[in-house]
This record gives sequence, structure tokens and C-alpha cells, in this order.
Amino acid sequence: MGYVGDNKSLEVLLGGLKRLEYRGYDSAGVAVIDADGHLGVRKRSGKLKVLTDDLAADPLGNGATGIGHTRWATHGGPTDANAHPHLGDNGKLALIHNGIIENFYDLKRELLAEGETFTSETDTEVAAILVGREFQKTHDVTESLRRVVARLHGAFTLLVMHEDQPGVVVGARRNSPLVIGLGDGENFLGSDVAAFVEFTQRAVAIGQDQIVTIRPDSVEVTDFIGNPVETEEFEIAWDVSAADKGGWSSFMAKEISEEPEAVANTLRGRAVNGTVHLPELESIGAAVLADIDRIIIIACGTAAYAGMLGKYAIEQWSRIPVEVELSHEFRYRNPIINSRTLVVSISQSGETMDTLMAVKYATANDARVLSICNTQGATIARESHAVVYTHAGPEVAVASTKAFVAQIAALYLLGLHLATVRGTLSAGEIAENVAELVAIPDKIAEVIESAKVIPQLAHWMTDTQSVLFLGRHVGFPVALEGALKLKELAYIHAEGFAAGELKHGPIALIEPGQIVFVVVPSPRGTGSLHPKVVSNIQEIRARGARVIAIAEKGDAAVLPFADEVIPIPLAATLFEPFLAVVPLHVFGMELAAAKGLDVDQPRNLAKSVTVE
Ligand code: M6R
Repeated sequence: MGYVGDNKSLEVLLGGLKRLEYRGYDSAGVAVIDADGHLGVRKRSGKLKVLTDDLAADPLGNGATGIGHTRWATHGGPTDANAHPHLGDNGKLALIHNGIIENFYDLKRELLAEGETFTSETDTEVAAILVGREFQKTHDVTESLRRVVARLHGAFTLLVMHEDQPGVVVGARRNSPLVIGLGDGENFLGSDVAAFVEFTQRAVAIGQDQIVTIRPDSVEVTDFIGNPVETEEFEIAWDVSAADKGGWSSFMAKEISEEPEAVANTLRGRAVNGTVHLPELESIGAAVLADIDRIIIIACGTAAYAGMLGKYAIEQWSRIPVEVELSHEFRYRNPIINSRTLVVSISQSGETMDTLMAVKYATANDARVLSICNTQGATIARESHAVVYTHAGPEVAVASTKAFVAQIAALYLLGLHLATVRGTLSAGEIAENVAELVAIPDKIAEVIESAKVIPQLAHWMTDTQSVLFLGRHVGFPVALEGALKLKELAYIHAEGFAAGELKHGPIALIEPGQIVFVVVPSPRGTGSLHPKVVSNIQEIRARGARVIAIAEKGDAAVLPFADEVIPIPLAATLFEPFLAVVPLHVFGMELAAAKGLDVDQPRNLAKSVTVE
């Protein structure tokens, strides 16, 4: 983040970095021009707290201009030397970077040959040295940065300041995010609005290949050539309390408790009187939507599991074939798409680079792109033909929870909308499904309330080395989600399987004591799913597995075969995932906490993955 204003830059930066830390937490650093006009820099490996403790013990002069950074390491390990800011122009210029400069090695060789020396292994330091060299010629940060970005390849947001130009911070962005916060006598830059929401609700998203210069009383945005560009201000839809932990032990605990509200807010105004309203789709056009012959859903991680659930619902309701693909696989395999393909991207952050690149590829190849996104003004939203926002509120914990259920809700709305415009469901059928949807928030709240047994289970399992998750039909993506949560939060080997696949190999993993979570479909559901899953439970029990079943309340058939049953309320088959996933979110969190791990910031990860 960057700040220009009155003499409190250090406090502003440290507060902002605390809210941005979820984006990366390998190291942190700040640079401030103090009241005497000197550039001071402090950077430390480890979480932000290491830096703040260091600054408390040995303060840096405060001032009116500053930049600050938290890092998720790409080039060079998480050391003090590799932490940002990096310096140029004999230590008078500081620069921070998000992204990857893909041609850094060639540039570094060139600079080494010209006698420059480097103190880090990062790609970023190349940019700091280059901008410093240009400053010696131009004496202007904006012009220097403009000259340098023309030479860089890859993805970058760069922020730069120089002690000879106090009161100025300059940012440039290509592919990585950057947002301006408009204050009164002060202005801000941040990778997202969380950086400055404590001080202002007024924001402007910077477009692709643009440069912004902030001063206390002005903001100028140009393209990389220097032509002024029009910007559009938006109001941040949440306030600082939404990004605070409140009284909760972790952001994740808070966000799980907000799952009912996240779904309710996503449905608000869109599921009304038994019908679905998605005016956001007008920018694609009813005629185009009526004519599409294929849908491809692209996403990563948890969002991709939401996408898998979307496939079940959209195909069932609208009879349009749906494929679900990981964004990074889609982008680089020459997929078959055309103007009759609707690509649906799903991303909580709206900044996941793999998904952004896939969206750009899809638009460049004539597909219509609709994005389901949780972050206002995010890059993916801006690059799409239409966007349906989930209104889950800011999600801070690295493990995605409330965004997941909100994404499913948005996908189900899309499925019902398509069924309406294509006439594949009757008005009565639409109304029945809408009724199921609007009942979900209260049912999720019921699951959270009844999930009290889970902390106990987690405490028993702190030494467990491996946990398996089984599900069938819509229970399969839920199993995958349960396994992902355990891997990322508790660092336990975990796998999710389609229950029917078990006998084709994975059953060999079952040995006495192996813990298996089974997502059991409703006995009232169609397609004899229930008896098949109950048979799968018996097969693994016969081989010594310990079974924890997530099953509909009153499902007597499961009781004799499960070591533990976690009951969920009744719901139609397609809607069960909203409920079955909640105990798995709670379990991942509780097991991580019981192991003494950082629930909100698991190792090696970052909330928004802005590199490919
Ligand atoms: O911001 P996105 O929804 O695009 O993020 C996608 C994944 O990186 C994300 O869901 C990740 O898998 C979560 N950490 C899982 O809990």
C-alpha cells in the first residue's frame, strides 16, 4: 500500500498492512520519508508482527509519505534481504512489487554488466534499480516509472517513492490489482480496499496498463504512454468493522458464522416471489443467452468445487452441457470455444491470476464471459462481459468458507435464470427451487448450531496422519472441499473421492483406524444414491475404517454403521451441499486450532494468488 497525507504515514501503513496481510505473510516492510526528508526503510522476514515489534523497539521516523508491503515469496526465499521495499538511486528510492517480472533475469544480467550490484534474489530489485537510474536523468518518479514499465514483461503492480520528491507516491499496474483510496488532504493506494477502508469509503480501481500519481491533494491517472485516462469512483460497500475479527478467535470462525448471511445477501433481490432476477446478465443479452450451446466454468481451488456443484444444477435445470475446468488447465490447452460458449468464471478475490488469464483468453476467443465474484471492482469483474457479485462481505481467512456457499447460491440463481429463459422448467418448478434456496440460510444456521460435537472430534484427531472424504453426486465436490480444507489448514494428508470410485483403487488405502468422512445423500432423494453410499460405508467399515457420516437428520440406515453421525437438516438433493459442507469447514478449522496452527494464515499460502 501507499500513502501521502499528513505526518502519520507509519501508523497508516501498519494498520493497512494488518488488513492486507492475508494476501501474503512471508515478510513485511515499510519505507517512509521522515520529517527531515530522509528515506527510512525497515523490512523483516516473518509475519507483520515481527516488523511491528521491531519498529516498536527501534522506531523509524514518521512522515507524510510512505509505502508498505507484505510478501508471498516467488523469487528468493522469505528472508530480510528479499523482503520489500527494494532500493534504487543509492538508497534514495524505494519500490514495492506484487507479481512477477518475467524478463528480470535478462535485465539483471544487463545491469550487472553495467556495474550495478544487487542485495537480493528477487525479480523486484531489477525494477528498483532501473527506476533509480531513470530518476537520475528525469528527477521525476512518474516519468521514471513510465520509462521502466515499457521494458518489463509479466504481471506487476509497482509502487515507488523517492526522497527528492516527498509527498508523491506513484503506482503502475499490469495484470496485478491496484486501487486508489480518495481521502481529504490524503490519498492512498492499495492492492485492495481493505488497505484504506478505515479512512475512506471512496475508491477508484486502476485499469490495465495505467500509472497513478498520488499527492495529498491530487490524483492523476494516465496510460503507460502518458495519456490521461478517465476513472470511475465507487463507494466501498462495507465498512472497516466487516474486516475486523470482532470477538472471534479467528477470521475463519467469524466467516463460518457468517455463512447464512452470505447466502442470504447473495439471494437478496434476486430470488423473489418464486422467480429469479439477474439484471446483471442484461449486458450479455437475452438472445445470446438463449442461443448458447455450452457452458464452461473456470475457477481454482474451492471456487472450482463450487463450479462442480454449479454443473449439477445448471445441467439439471437448463439442460445446457456444462464443463468445469481449472483455470490454469483451460488457459493453456487450446480449448474449443466460440461465440455460443458461455464461460463462467468464479473467484472470491476476483484477482486470481490463473482465472484472470483464462478470462482474457476466453474473451479474446469470442466467448461470452460471466464472472461470479465477491470483490467490488476486481480485475476479473472488469475484464468480463457481465458480473454477478456474491455479497458475502470481505473474506479475510485464507481458507474460503462463506464465499464458497455464496458462490453456490450465485450459480444456482444462474441455473434457474437459464431454465427460465429457455423454458426448461415450469414456473412451478422454478418456484419450488427458489423456495429451497431461500430456506438455505436458516438451515445453515441450524447446522452451525448443531456442529458442537466437531471440536471434540478434532481434539481426538490431532495425531491423525491421513483423513479420507467420500461423497457421491453433489456430495463429491463437498468431499473434495473437506479434503482441501484439511490439507491447507491442518497440514494433514487428505483426499476426497467419489464414493463410487472407491472400489477402483482408493479402497486399498483403508486400513484399521483410517478415518473417513462420508457425505451421505438423503434417503428421500432420487436415483438410489442413498443405499449405494450406505453400501460404500459398509465396505470401508468391513476393512476397519472409522466412519464419520454427515447425514440427514433421522437417517436411521446410517446409524448402525457410523462411529459418529453429524446430522444436517432436510433439503432437496441439489441443496444438500450448502449444509453438508459446513461441518467440514468447522472440522478443518478446529483441527488446525487443536494442533496449535495459525487458522487464518496457513503456511506457504496467500489469500489471493496473483501470480501464475
Ligand atoms: O479468490 P479465488 O476464489 O479465485 O481463490 C481461488 C482459490 O485460490 C481459493 O479458493 C483457495 O483454494 C482457498 N484457499 C481454499 O480454501
